[in-house]
Amino acid sequence: MTTPHISGLTEAEAAGIQRFPKPEPGSWTEHFGLDTGPVSFHDCYDPEFYELEKEAIFRRNWLYAGRVEQLPRKGTYFTKELPFLNLSALFVRGMDDQIRAFHNICTHRGNKLMWEDYPSQASSGSCRQMACKYHGWRFDLEGEISYVHNAPEFFDLKADDIALKKIHCEVWAGFIFFNLEETPSQSFREFLTPGVEALESYPFDKMTEHYVIESEIAANWKLYMDAFQELYHVPFVHGLMNNPALPATGVDKVPFMVPAFSIHGKHRCMTSGGPHANKRVRAGRPVEEIFRADFFGPFDAYDVGDLGDGVNPSRISPWGLDSWQLYPNLVILTWCKNWFITYEYWPTSATTHKFILRGHFPKPTNATERLAQEHSLVTTKEFCMMDANTLEATQLGYMSGAVKEFRLCDQEVAIRHLHHVVQTDVENYKNELAGK
Ligand code: FES
Ligand SMILES: [Fe+2]
Repeated sequence: MTTPHISGLTEAEAAGIQRFPKPEPGSWTEHFGLDTGPVSFHDCYDPEFYELEKEAIFRRNWLYAGRVEQLPRKGTYFTKELPFLNLSALFVRGMDDQIRAFHNICTHRGNKLMWEDYPSQASSGSCRQMACKYHGWRFDLEGEISYVHNAPEFFDLKADDIALKKIHCEVWAGFIFFNLEETPSQSFREFLTPGVEALESYPFDKMTEHYVIESEIAANWKLYMDAFQELYHVPFVHGLMNNPALPATGVDKVPFMVPAFSIHGKHRCMTSGGPHANKRVRAGRPVEEIFRADFFGPFDAYDVGDLGDGVNPSRISPWGLDSWQLYPNLVILTWCKNWFITYEYWPTSATTHKFILRGHFPKPTNATERLAQEHSLVTTKEFCMMDANTLEATQLGYMSGAVKEFRLCDQEVAIRHLHHVVQTDVENYKNELAGK
């Protein structure tokens, strides 16, 4: 059996990290039944593909809205703006403590219901009823009509006809998901698969401190997902963040390798040794000692108890992190050091998207803990900016059309899987439209 080379470890340490389940003989790519041939990335710039993708993928799969901590009390709400689908979704915690989702539209004459100064921007807050700014209709927290101004002037007004239009909504492990189909083609649990579902025992509910970073990126949404689905680029794109004492030029660059991948339906997971495997790669900068934190998280772990059965689905040892790539556009990155990150990638056009990064930590109990959290997050942002810069350059390369097919190595198997699933979904949708 070949032991993968884990960056910065001795042979003996690296031997402790196994590929599991090791595809033997062969590769991860063959193990998952994927083609090993070149891949077309026309799905990252073709406007026609983008139009189909909206319908085939974003209107037909469970999508991530936010965390339950964003709706802490009865009457709290937030909106999710999806301009690429001409849609605003409204999430509200009702008097019965249930979280519901609605189209954010007043049923009188279509005014957007919840917004603040600028109609196109997201809004959040707390209310007893949801009041339309146009003619004053009001809706209760369960979406039923509660007040119509000058109601006798209307003709045959029925409460059922004018309730807010519902969107399917599910809460799992504190994550709020929604589905825009009239009747979802797949139940939420089916969509999750047992492998992802097992993650619900992770103590997400103990990590209620959120920090949010958003950015507009001049690249298709899948390109940024791709940048977080392999470590092959790390010694080159993030070379400056690595330990300068290690060889860092030419063929001597530290070869980062993912020790284990797993596929869960349309989702995938990249499991790695994380801080344990990379301890020699970290630069150990003075600022990190001062803040007691680095890219891998605060040095002083909080006691959040057991991390549950869902982490480390490939059972590697030592385990450091899982990057769960939930189809279509959510990543949940669970660290061994008691914090997790979510990444969202929302298309804004065929060649641009909005990136949302949220760091989730236990509530800090003092200023030192707070600063450690902030330092981990800004270091993560630094890494993300390095990726973003590169992938805007990749986008330009794809769009030139000069190269139509690209060769992916076995370490890029998760990228191959994402594009395979996306292209298959779009193909199936096209066949359905054609009545095949
Ligand atoms: S559009 Fe909302 S009350 Fe008229
Ligand atoms: Fe990166």
